[in-house]
Amino acid sequence: MSEYVIDIDSLTKIYQTGKTDFKALNTVTLKIRKGDFVAIMGPSGSGKSTLMNIIGCLDRPTSGTVIIDGENISIVSDNELAEIRGRKIGFIFQKFNLIPTMTALKNIALPMVFLGGTKADRDRRSAELLGKVGLTNWATHRPSELSGGQQQRIAIARALSNNPAIILADEPTGNLDTKN
Ligand SMILES: Nc1ncnc2c1ncn2[C@@H]1O[C@H](COP(=O)(O)OP(=O)(O)OP(=O)(O)O)[C@@H](O)[C@H]1O
Ligand SMILES: [Mg+2]
Repeated sequence: MSEYVIDIDSLTKIYQTGKTDFKALNTVTLKIRKGDFVAIMGPSGSGKSTLMNIIGCLDRPTSGTVIIDGENISIVSDNELAEIRGRKIGFIFQKFNLIPTMTALKNIALPMVFLGGTKADRDRRSAELLGKVGLTNWATHRPSELSGGQQQRIAIARALSNNPAIILADEPTGNLDTKN
């Protein structure tokens, strides 16, 4: 097994919109070790979200090799890709992507549903994570009843709930004060 949890070689991503092709990533090589904390910075439109979406198994490379925690995602089926995403990835989206009809607690529990385990276990872990982000009293609130920063903290708790090998965060602290 590679010493890298993220091991990317010559990753190219071309978006096809109508007749034109757009190369959003051009032969990117990136190696990240387990336990590393890495920030990706660059101007708007430089391909940061494109790269994150591929590492997060939400999108596929056009060419190149992308190995995520030992899984070569360039060659797996769509079902396998979704399964790898559910098991290995915690994703904090810039716009949170919380489920509007679910309570804060249910949103946090959602990634665990696909891992098996009992409902009692999921509820216990969700409540614990809710406490860690300081929102115990908001367990039964829906996202629309929460402030931007509170929603962001729910999104962070959700990203941690499946105990992922990799946590990806697109502008994860934009709505939080320094203490949070
Ligand atoms: N689904 C898509 N179809 C076509 N082109 C896309 C698509 N997504 C992104 N692009 C193009 O790819 C380039 C990189 O976009 P990306 O969203 O990865 O940039 P970014 O670095 O995250 O920017 P920002 O800092 O503004 O979030 C942009 O020029 C964008 O227009
Ligand atoms: Mg972006």
